[in-house]
Amino acid sequence: MSDSILTVRDLRKKYGDHEVVKGISFSVQEGEVFGLLGPNGAGKTQTISMLTGVIEPTSGTAVIGGYDIKTQMNEVKKINGLVPQDLALYPTLSARANLNFFGRIYGLHGKDLKERVEDVLHVVSLTDRADEAVEKYSGGMKRRVNIAAGLIHHPRLLFLDEPTVGVDPQSRNYIFESVQRLNRERGMSIVYTSHYMEEVELLCNRVAIIDQGRIIALDTIKNLIAMLGGGIIQIGLAKVDQLLLNQLTALPAVKEAQLESSPDGAPDGETGPAVVKIMTQDTQHAVVNVIGYLNERDINLLSLNILEPNLETVFLHLTGKKLRE
Ligand SMILES: Nc1ncnc2c1ncn2[C@@H]1O[C@H](COP(=O)(O)OP(=O)(O)OP(=O)(O)O)[C@@H](O)[C@H]1O
Ligand SMILES: [Mg+2]
Repeated sequence: MSDSILTVRDLRKKYGDHEVVKGISFSVQEGEVFGLLGPNGAGKTQTISMLTGVIEPTSGTAVIGGYDIKTQMNEVKKINGLVPQDLALYPTLSARANLNFFGRIYGLHGKDLKERVEDVLHVVSLTDRADEAVEKYSGGMKRRVNIAAGLIHHPRLLFLDEPTVGVDPQSRNYIFESVQRLNRERGMSIVYTSHYMEEVELLCNRVAIIDQGRIIALDTIKNLIAMLGGGIIQIGLAKVDQLLLNQLTALPAVKEAQLESSPDGAPDGETGPAVVKIMTQDTQHAVVNVIGYLNERDINLLSLNILEPNLETVFLHLTGKKLRE
């Protein structure tokens, strides 16, 4: 028996020879806020679009609330709510009129429709300005109407695709609060995509880190960060060889020193200017020891970068890249 609201099985999407989602599998538990974290082009929107019936999978499938997305999308759509990355609103209509329109698409009318519209306006804290034309709203307010529209049929599972991109800080906070309230007070399950690790750390329990169409890590945030076993220090040096890496690795508080990159792209043997990645369970002590070591040998430090143990560092550790360029 399983209490998953969503189970994704080897989902793939291909355009010609270009596979943009390369066999993704994960489950979301009922009542969970699940994060999909990944950089631009990772495949987050493509994945969500398949799960919500916007596009068809090339292969693989998913089961949502007991229904298969390939054969029972009509049932799935009653369970799913989608807040797409791009806005889909009628600019000349008010927020209230937009929501009435979306509610009627779901077969709501009369008193039920009116109650739902007021309810979702309240969830996104827009009741006061609900009669103004949407085109006069700020980007953040428009996005909140978009969220309200995704909620109008009271979905059990809500997909939010980068809901805070281009949003002012106040609206951003309203969006966070709405997500937390929907989850805590209504038990709504939520899939939240973002390339901001701070948001995912704040809102989600478990997170799948996605890069180039694949899930490269999936766990609770706590476990993902614990996997690092501490922070990372990056130091830029004019010349690096294996002996230096060994000696750095032997320093107290240092777990391992590795060559991260060198401009000539030759990561072994002796190099020109290079960045060394130092893993540590105790960032402060390691920094003191590394700098002490370099000073004793008159080795110039070209750059120093201290990465705290967080999801951004997890991503860098797994891919060698930053989440945001
Ligand atoms: N219709 C399409 N035809 C071909 N390739 C596509 C199509 N739609 C998306 N892609 C490609 O699929 C890949 C994944 O795109 P997707 O929109 O899922 O990324 P994302 O993770 O949502 O990124 P972002 O954070 O920028 O929204 C990208 O390389 C994109 O160019
Ligand atoms: Mg996207």
